[in-house]
Amino acid sequence: MFRVCESMNSDTDSRQPFRVTVITLFPEYVEQAVSHSILGRALAAGLISVHVINPRDYATNRHKTVDDYPFGGGAGMVMKPEPLVAAIEASCESKGTSPVIFMSPAGEPLTQVIAAELSNLTGITLVCGHYEGIDERVREHWIDREISIGDYVLTGGEPAALVVIDAVCRLVPGVLGNDASPEDESFSDGTLEYPHFTRPSDFRGFKVPDILMSGHHAKIEDWRRTMALVRTRSRRPDLWERLQPLSKEDRKRIDTYDRLGESK
Ligand SMILES: C[S@@+](CC[C@H](N)C(=O)[O-])C[C@H]1O[C@@H](n2cnc3c(N)ncnc32)[C@H](O)[C@@H]1O
Repeated sequence: MFRVCESMNSDTDSRQPFRVTVITLFPEYVEQAVSHSILGRALAAGLISVHVINPRDYATNRHKTVDDYPFGGGAGMVMKPEPLVAAIEASCESKGTSPVIFMSPAGEPLTQVIAAELSNLTGITLVCGHYEGIDERVREHWIDREISIGDYVLTGGEPAALVVIDAVCRLVPGVLGNDASPEDESFSDGTLEYPHFTRPSDFRGFKVPDILMSGHHAKIEDWRRTMALVRTRSRRPDLWERLQPLSKEDRKRIDTYDRLGESK
């Protein structure tokens, strides 16, 4: 009923793993996805734990029914309240600082700020809807928060929950291996990230900017900041707006870029 993807590794430090509970009709979907790459290693190291609870296990009738027709008619089925609430109640993380979050296109849009906020908690419980969604009474009385991963409709909450798990868990200390790296990334300071290059320095005639090979750290930092600003201005006017007014240094960077281009 209550399946744990990977248990805590007791020989790590005494910090409890960041605990993720996913309430889903498709436990394997979630278990499979979190077992790879960085999240898989974080699970093995006991930095995070992922638990899945299937509402179907709490359905009481012979057919293990979890959905029913909507009152008032209309297309599609609605997830019934009894098994879903029993599953939420079975999640010991449904209390305290660990919120119960419903994945929903009507929720607040997921941002890096929300991901960082959630990563500072002891854990999260994510409820995945299916069919037309869940009974409104569950939403009103058992859900603390609703999060959307974008203005489009998925067939179920599982891909959305996986997006939240990934964005949140990579911010849990130790998960990325290098705790400093999230600070450099897109959105961390309200800008998109600067471009990256690796070897070879000349790939089919396309060259890496000279400055990155100059070894001059201050100039490289300055170039990166300029590129982050320029990229944000051209691609995300909404973020650019929020960066206003620019600091004196950033204003100078942008003015210089507009006058001379990337080379300075
Ligand atoms: C087919 S959708 C239901 C859509 C619902 N009838 C509506 O129009 O808002 C089934 C489930 O997928 C999940 N879902 C769909 N789109 C989502 C999104 N953009 N963000 C988060 N969850 C989403 C929700 O859990 C939802 O209950």
